[in-house]
Amino acid sequence: MTTERSDNVSEAQIAVHWREEEYYQPPAAFVGQANASDPAILDRFAEDRFPECFKEYADLLDWDHYWHTTLDTSEAPFWKWFVGGRLNACHNCVDRHLATRPNQAAMIWVPEPEDADPVAITYRELWVRVNEFAALLRDFAGVKAGDRVTFHLPMVPELPVAMLACARLGAIHSEVFGGFSGTACGERIADSGSDVLITMDGYYRNGELIDHKIKADEACEAAAKHGHEVGTVLIWRRHPGRYASDRPMVDGRDHFVDDLLPDYRGQRVAPESMPAEAPLFLMYTSGTTGRPKGCQHSTGGYLAYVTGTSKYYQDIHPDDTYWCAADIGWITGHSYIVYGPLSLGTTTVLYEGVPTYPDPGRLWRIAERLGVTTFHTAPTTIRMLRKLGPDEPTKYHYRFKHMTTVGEPIEPEVWRWYHQVVGKGEAVVVDTWWQTETGGFMGTTLPALQPMKPGSCGPGALGIYPVIYDEVGEVVEAGSGKAGNICIRNPWPGIFQTIWGQPERFKQIYYERYNRDPASTDWHDWPYLAGDGAVEAADGYFRILGRIDDVINVAGHRLGTKELESAALTVDEIAEAAAVPVMDELRGRAVEMYVSLKPGMTASPAVQDGVTAAIEREIGKIARPTQVWIVPDMPKTRSGKIMRRVIAGISNFADVGDITTLANPEIVADIRHQVQREK
Ligand code: WTA
Repeated sequence: MTTERSDNVSEAQIAVHWREEEYYQPPAAFVGQANASDPAILDRFAEDRFPECFKEYADLLDWDHYWHTTLDTSEAPFWKWFVGGRLNACHNCVDRHLATRPNQAAMIWVPEPEDADPVAITYRELWVRVNEFAALLRDFAGVKAGDRVTFHLPMVPELPVAMLACARLGAIHSEVFGGFSGTACGERIADSGSDVLITMDGYYRNGELIDHKIKADEACEAAAKHGHEVGTVLIWRRHPGRYASDRPMVDGRDHFVDDLLPDYRGQRVAPESMPAEAPLFLMYTSGTTGRPKGCQHSTGGYLAYVTGTSKYYQDIHPDDTYWCAADIGWITGHSYIVYGPLSLGTTTVLYEGVPTYPDPGRLWRIAERLGVTTFHTAPTTIRMLRKLGPDEPTKYHYRFKHMTTVGEPIEPEVWRWYHQVVGKGEAVVVDTWWQTETGGFMGTTLPALQPMKPGSCGPGALGIYPVIYDEVGEVVEAGSGKAGNICIRNPWPGIFQTIWGQPERFKQIYYERYNRDPASTDWHDWPYLAGDGAVEAADGYFRILGRIDDVINVAGHRLGTKELESAALTVDEIAEAAAVPVMDELRGRAVEMYVSLKPGMTASPAVQDGVTAAIEREIGKIARPTQVWIVPDMPKTRSGKIMRRVIAGISNFADVGDITTLANPEIVADIRHQVQREK
């Protein structure tokens, strides 16, 4: 067992502890129609039914061959689910609905600008588009089962079409969030070894058509720096036939999809029958070292888990109009815009743009126009809309029966606005705690069976058994009021399989800390370390406090402090850099950068701007720090480690802890003076 690093910045340490809240019961109208309204479901997933309980989720899928072993633990902690089973994810999300609902909208896309009409794509049309694009990928780009294909696509239907086309071929997709920089995309291309990049020339945001092709060029360049050549770049045009970028097309490498597609009209590609354990996709996320981690998700386990949780927690019915207003570039979009909802044959909404443009009524207008029944978003969006348009929801005639919040802790006050104003007091609210790594929900409430408690995500999801450990591995008892490290005691089908290409790191980051015996093949010995601080109340509900590692969750986006710091260090003048989390009214947390200069360099606004520009270039605009502080020196331990915890204490006007053991304790007062004077 390792002890916590002394220089760790921990979001959980600066978390605000709110008082325990009262319970809210679901409305009777909701309970009457819920997919899970019989408490017997809790018994079916009781601990002594593990792991067979998850058969109930897997049985929601079509299998080409049924599995022989539900859970194989022989290579712990590389769990294998539904071993021997074969299936195709695209078949499950598209083909199998053709018999029952070919003309139902599978997707409704709401583009910007706002006067453009929403576009409905039926299951049949989706099937046609996926087949044609799969044929193009196979025959033009040479994509085959097991190949990795990187996407850098915005929120357009072409993104789910591309995901499903890869899944149809058994190829592994890796979508990089559109807002990431070309450099960040290039690193992920190289890491995954993708020969093909799929992108779009431009997309709309805040009313502007943004040039996105430029990022493809940067990405290929960045990949080449990592020794990886991208052979083929497939570029969809946001307006077919009209190129939105002034970047030249690179001969032999760049191709417009809309020029190629006519050759594949009417083509059909048989879905590849994949082993349950074949990887379905990679989703890169930030971690404790500079390099992003490619979380590898399986076909069978993942799809079973997101289908089951979509059914019981999102309460998705085929006739719902379900809208998760997240970006597909994050895990939330993969699991709960694309795979879960489509597997259940419902209508899933995707939208281009932002919640606040042209005004903070946009989401509610969309909800009214499309008759959205089920709504899903993040606390950051809720806080922002509450601030900018607190009464907007009352102006629109939509009716939600179910609402979700995901990605960050939600303050009880914000929760109540969501419930009363957005949900008009008629919708249940489920707070869902989970991660890129976990594939689907970990802590949440079964909406018809478990009451809501603002500020707490809820108990473990069906078949998920969380536990809180202290620093030395003792269980922190429920109701003790003490915080600790939340872990999951058992494996589950949605858990990621490994970090792409880095199995040792996977084991070390997620399983070593509380492992009881490295040679054991018994899952009881391998608790999964989530990386969050949490408190468990006497009722078994968990309150998540924030990250305990070097990750800062800004507006629900995970940023690695090491990535931010290495970006800052690319600026010539900078000698040392530290990224710290600060509390932020709207985004939950924000990042402040502390930098010190090389000898002989002088502090100036240009240096500060240089740091911000470097972060935007290396990671993307989403990682922009709110402040760049140039300080004379960093507080350090005698061994030279930067004490980020001390800096975070200063930035948050909080206790900095014991500083007597620092090599340079006097610097703490200097920095405090400088920072707190300006704040
Ligand atoms: C945080 C997003 C509190 C947490 C699905 C976790 C939450 C990280 C919640 C994962 C929630 C997610 N309440 N905190 N309901 N949901 N988090 O990988 O710190 O982008 O570790 O996955 O977000 O972020 P990720």
